[in-house]
Amino acid sequence: MHPVIEWKDGAVVMLDQRLLPGEKAFIRHHRHLDVARSIRDMVIRGAPAIGIAAAYGIALGVAELAGRPELGRAGFLEERFREIVAAITSTRPTAVNLFWAAERMQAVFERHHGDYPTLRRELLAAAEALDREDYGINRAIGRNGAALLRDGDTVLTHCNAGALATAGYGTALGVVRAAVEAGKKVRVIAGETRPYLQGARLTVWELQEENIPVTLITDSMAGHVMQKQMAQAVIVGADRVAANGDVANKIGTYSLAVLASHHHLPFYVAAPLSTIDPATADGAGIPIEERDKSEVTNFRGQATARPETDVYNPAFDVTPAALITAIITEERVLYPPFGEAIASLRGLRRK
Ligand code: MRU
Repeated sequence: MHPVIEWKDGAVVMLDQRLLPGEKAFIRHHRHLDVARSIRDMVIRGAPAIGIAAAYGIALGVAELAGRPELGRAGFLEERFREIVAAITSTRPTAVNLFWAAERMQAVFERHHGDYPTLRRELLAAAEALDREDYGINRAIGRNGAALLRDGDTVLTHCNAGALATAGYGTALGVVRAAVEAGKKVRVIAGETRPYLQGARLTVWELQEENIPVTLITDSMAGHVMQKQMAQAVIVGADRVAANGDVANKIGTYSLAVLASHHHLPFYVAAPLSTIDPATADGAGIPIEERDKSEVTNFRGQATARPETDVYNPAFDVTPAALITAIITEERVLYPPFGEAIASLRGLRRK
């Protein structure tokens, strides 16, 4: 699969995920403000991919300053860098990878801001490293999670936590891919994921591309599917994991966790360490993004409700840790009590 994002000839190139599955088109970004808009408008989405876009966006913002005579003025670079980071991080509040990536870029800035050409080069190198690392992290999540699936299992997933949401391979879908690569016959049931249809448009598409069997359902069919014992496990991704193991993920995830608990199905969350936010004690502290009401009253320009309709459109919900069977990371699989398990992670950044 073509990378969802890459740096090419001085520009940030993204696959326009809004157009999938109908059209495969790429957008070239020459300005960091356009990268910010593309993150907000969901040209690119999924927490790890948003983090990668943020890193490239910040590198691009600094590259845009080349040739500016004010570069020699004390404080100029600091002020511009603050503005660039603010533009990028003001886009999507729930996905913690956005802020995690910005912090990594900030550390590079602290080291090299005395020398503009070096700073510019090092910021791009840091963004490329973050992009490369993410692929390996997803492979490790896949390896760790594949052991939880049995030959013949059907996995219910929500939204898209796949190759399209990462540098490639995916988190939740990475677990499925790794199980399939290990020779297990695994099928997927994908919830369509209203209102933005990441499940129908993206998860189904990327699994079909690899001939992994997938069945699409509308979100409201999940309870029926579980009651009929058509799935043996639920695996989802995460936008932010709090220090106690509460998980923010795509709206509808919480309903699936409640249903899975009622039906005694394991409920797994697959997420990289970069999605764990030890600074947020529990789910109540996770900011939940609300998106435009038009996403609910329209689909691709076609009205599905009157435009004046009052709408509530939270993009994420919080699944309490008590409903989660395990959190699959690249380091290891975490089991309850998650607070202790998270605190004992070796690779976790700490403030
Ligand atoms: O609004 P989106 O499409 O960015 O939401 C994506 C999700 O909720 C994913 O499950 C999450 O970011 C994990 S992606 C590996």
